[in-house]
Amino acid sequence: MALVTFTQRLEDLKESANADFQKATTQALVEEARVKYLGAKNGLLKEVQKELGKISKEEKPLAGKALNETKQALQKALDEAESQIRSGVTAAGDQPLFDPTLPGTSYTLGHIHPITQTISELSDIMGRLGFSVVGGPEVEDEDHNFNALNIPQEHPARDPLDNFYLSFAQETNKTPMLLRSQTSTVQIRVMEKTKPPIRIVSLGRVYRPDTADATHYPMFHQMEGLYVDEKVTMADLKTVMHLFAKSYLGEGVKVRFRPSFFPFTEPSVETDFYWNGKWVEYGGAGMVDPNVFRAVGYDPEEVTGFAFGLGVERLCMRRHNVTDIRDLYQNDVQFLRQF
Ligand code: PHE
Repeated sequence: MALVTFTQRLEDLKESANADFQKATTQALVEEARVKYLGAKNGLLKEVQKELGKISKEEKPLAGKALNETKQALQKALDEAESQIRSGVTAAGDQPLFDPTLPGTSYTLGHIHPITQTISELSDIMGRLGFSVVGGPEVEDEDHNFNALNIPQEHPARDPLDNFYLSFAQETNKTPMLLRSQTSTVQIRVMEKTKPPIRIVSLGRVYRPDTADATHYPMFHQMEGLYVDEKVTMADLKTVMHLFAKSYLGEGVKVRFRPSFFPFTEPSVETDFYWNGKWVEYGGAGMVDPNVFRAVGYDPEEVTGFAFGLGVERLCMRRHNVTDIRDLYQNDVQFLRQF
């Protein structure tokens, strides 16, 4: 075969390959053209290459050079076609292959549970009022859940039917243990370890074997508060309750105390907040009973204090208009996503 024929065939190949690669506007078309021209087995370039053997010895170097140049040109055409697809522009015009106005792929993001959100908001509010946040164990002994809180042996609050006592403690004959029924346990734990003045809140789970209904659940959360110093009065308690309620629920909140009884406070009150046209009870409060101070080694002649325990679910539900506590624990994503 003459050298001119050989190089002519290469020229023709280059021309038609360039045209095909330019027309290739999708990845599939580019791939099709690549196989057609540069395919290792039956590619058209390979076909021409086979003719190299028919070229005379003298002309072979020139023919080989031309073959290499063609190969590079085809490779370049392929690279350009691919990069155009990546950039979303076709050789034919500016029409983008990638449509940026199409809706994207959305991912489902994780979500913070409304009670967790409420807990951090309440902690923030109390933090601004100067209360630091502390924690305590959910598995408690009788001492912290009852004895040190001045709850007498025969008090109905200790009834096994009203508490989750843990059988392992009974079996090993140790101090009875239970899932704490109130966060007031943390008052004791803090006072045992710290000297006054004390200004803390503790937010956490408590457990009572109640049948679940719209307003009860066997596990719920409380926010316990404790303020101990010289000359702390009931007026301080009411001020803190008012500032807290105003921060969490909003302006127009009123606070009402109704006389009540708790073994660990004297006097004791039920705490109601008025908001959105309604009085709702949120928990108990009162002035720390001298017996509680004695149990932790404080001198009740020297310090006074107030304590309160508010229902976290109730606060969250009232503010967000949730009417059934069970909704918070069904883990229905449709419901939880609203918060
Ligand atoms: N621990 C009480 C309850 O669970 C609430 C409370 C806390 C009352 C602190 C007074 C003082 O009902």
